[in-house]
Amino acid sequence: MENKIKKIGILTGGGDAPGLNAVIRAITRTAILKYGYEVIGYKFGYRGLYNNDFMPLTLDSVSGILHKGGTILYSSNKDNLFEYLVEEDGKTVKKDVSDVAVENLKNEGVDVLVVLGGDGTLTSARDFARKGVKVIGVPKTIDNDLGATDITFGFDTAVSIVTELLGRIHTTAESHHRVMVVEAMGRNAGFIALHAGIAGSADVILIPEIPYNVDSIVKRVKERDEHGQPFTIIVVAEGATEKGGEVVVNKIVEDSPDPIRLGGIANKLANDLEKVIKNHEVRSVVLGHVQRGGDTTPYDRILSTRYGAEAADMIAEGKFGNMVCIRDGHMSSVSLEEVIGSNKSVDPKGELVRIAKNIGISFGDE
Ligand code: F6P
Repeated sequence: MENKIKKIGILTGGGDAPGLNAVIRAITRTAILKYGYEVIGYKFGYRGLYNNDFMPLTLDSVSGILHKGGTILYSSNKDNLFEYLVEEDGKTVKKDVSDVAVENLKNEGVDVLVVLGGDGTLTSARDFARKGVKVIGVPKTIDNDLGATDITFGFDTAVSIVTELLGRIHTTAESHHRVMVVEAMGRNAGFIALHAGIAGSADVILIPEIPYNVDSIVKRVKERDEHGQPFTIIVVAEGATEKGGEVVVNKIVEDSPDPIRLGGIANKLANDLEKVIKNHEVRSVVLGHVQRGGDTTPYDRILSTRYGAEAADMIAEGKFGNMVCIRDGHMSSVSLEEVIGSNKSVDPKGELVRIAKNIGISFGDE
């Protein structure tokens, strides 16, 4: 089949993740050098597509960005064009403005739209594919919770950052004989906390997949005291809950496709622990967006380059309506229809949890 692709558009949506720039670079370079396509990038995700706000992507404009976190195209986690907030008769109402985006693509001569995003952003990508737009998805999230692919870029960088910060928490915890409760991101999945907890030598790891009880944590703190280790590092995923309890919500972002922002569990747990632990101060630290910032790890640079190069190949092969994925270490593709809602979480009986328990890490569930 003759492939008449001449021009492609790229956008990044949702929360940023280290590796986005490396993907943009790999798509752009492969598209230009291997296939001779023209490339443009829409700014601030779907909002740029709606406002026809874009920049040309050339070999020059993607030079020097491989290692950099963030996204040169900027991002937004609010602008769902299928439910866009618009002012009508003095009121803010939700409206489907996706036809405007389709028209903009047509007028600019953009043949294929490459969408880099997580759940919410890829849901819109699927919906544009349903409208007949030629779409390729690239999975992005530091949380690593997309079921349709083995690993997402940004995760390794987040784990590296949290691991490094746990090392820093260790020395101060030890000096003051404190119990430190460190909150990691991850939404409803515990991958970041689990991996960084093991790599950063945490004593207790609390994840959404294994509800904790306070007594069990107190028991571990006491055991450490008795073994001459009068300080304890607890890593808690932001989505972790006490047995029978609820997730702690930080805020609701009304106009976001995924409006619930978690956060605050470390503070809650520190308060709960302080009521029963009398021989240590208990402090909480929320790592927050530091986990997504700064330079990208070499692993994520390579992973992102693989994702981007494969996305460009998929365009040439006409694999529209699909997302690039990695299965058993190999690049592959999966229909966007299958991707949505296929979130994954830590297996509480899986190898990593098992070996962590075997080396004495508590999950607060004994
Ligand atoms: O999905 C990535 C992530 O960083 C989550 O780990 C976190 O819960 C959320 O995004 C934070 O979103 P925002 O950047 O909107 O605060």
